[in-house]
Amino acid sequence: MEIPLYFYLAYEGLERLSPGSADTTLKAIDKVNINSKANLNILDIGCGVGSSTILLANYFENSEIEAIDLFKHYLDVLNEKIAENNFEDRVFSYCMDMKDPDFANEEFDIVFAESSIEVIGFRKGLKEWKRLLKPGGYIIVSDISWIKKPSAKSVKFWKNIYSEVDSIENKIAQIRNEGYEFIDYVIVPKEDWKEFHKKLEKNLDSLSIDKSAKEFVNVLKKQITFFRQNSDEYSYVFYIMKKC
Ligand SMILES: C[S@@+](CC[C@H](N)C(=O)[O-])C[C@H]1O[C@@H](n2cnc3c(N)ncnc32)[C@H](O)[C@@H]1O
Repeated sequence: MEIPLYFYLAYEGLERLSPGSADTTLKAIDKVNINSKANLNILDIGCGVGSSTILLANYFENSEIEAIDLFKHYLDVLNEKIAENNFEDRVFSYCMDMKDPDFANEEFDIVFAESSIEVIGFRKGLKEWKRLLKPGGYIIVSDISWIKKPSAKSVKFWKNIYSEVDSIENKIAQIRNEGYEFIDYVIVPKEDWKEFHKKLEKNLDSLSIDKSAKEFVNVLKKQITFFRQNSDEYSYVFYIMKKC
């Protein structure tokens, strides 16, 4: 798929492509009741530049990790990190569509997707990725959720961006409806968003001189402003669940 260059420039040099932090991701990973020294197979879906791929590889020190993303530019950055960390023998990246992951049934102990399940949709992702998990395996996904009763303004704003934004309670019900055992959740704190937005905004300011990027830049700036005004109402939330 051809992606305009400004799409990459907006995120150039950012450690991650979504609000978050190593601390928050580790809190979510820590909920998984698996020996971190075991030989595990892990799939990172929509890995982007791989900040969490590397985190997973460090945490699960004897694991083999397959990291997939649709966009090669991001995988190039991840591949540099794999080399820097000497992970070439156990971390592998693939240009692959999350809607058609080319892996065998029951191949993975953990399926991880940080801020990417919205591409396929929360419920569809949980349904379709289940086959990839071994029985007793875990899925860790983060998705935009209401963290308090949202205002009508927020509901309207998000409806146009991602129709599956829902309360944590409803997300947990959806997880159970898909036949998983719900384990726990972790809310991405405001500070993680602030840090991410600060860096993103800097890149967007430099991009503003590119006329072809104007609309794209405006959309992202609008989202940043909206978050600053309504950050008590929503966030990414990690959901941790187990295949029964
Ligand atoms: C918001 S970013 C999150 C990236 C990374 N997980 C992180 O937290 O930094 C969403 C990622 O999904 C990837 N993506 C979008 N559509 C995809 C698809 N159909 N299949 C695989 N990856 C996709 C994007 O390229 C991007 O890297």
